[in-house]
Amino acid sequence: MTKLITVLNGPNLNLLGQREPEKYGSKTLADVEVEVSELALEFGLKVLFQQSNFEGGLVEMIHAARETSAGIIINPAAYSHTSVAVLDALNTFDGAVIEVHISNIHRREEFRHHSFVSARADGVIAGCGTQGYSLALRHIATLV
Ligand code: DQA
Repeated sequence: MTKLITVLNGPNLNLLGQREPEKYGSKTLADVEVEVSELALEFGLKVLFQQSNFEGGLVEMIHAARETSAGIIINPAAYSHTSVAVLDALNTFDGAVIEVHISNIHRREEFRHHSFVSARADGVIAGCGTQGYSLALRHIATLV
């Protein structure tokens, strides 16, 4: 059976392409979804792209992935730096987890340097732009 990878995006990423393009680039989340879905075909994987502006929304999407997905690629956005709830949810997930940040969070404000999610992530990609999602898929394909 084709394995599913859930790709989760946190708050404000619905505005990708419009939001601070100097930091996050000009591609929309829909553009990234097309790119990652096409790449997934090459690896015999399927992807489910989701986005929520709510912490509890992300938690519920992670719970759903427990039943459906071999791996999670997650850009928790601002919740990376604040959310024990997202970390705890990821700790209930048995598959591979890759954390993505479009910008290099380590070169930005100090409050962005720590991510709670990194404590669970099998890998972290930051600062590679929206290409980070494809890099994450390439890596997760080797893990699932
Ligand atoms: C981000 C970095 C976070 O600090 C920020 O809150 C975001 C996006 C990134 O992809 O670079 O919303 O996760």
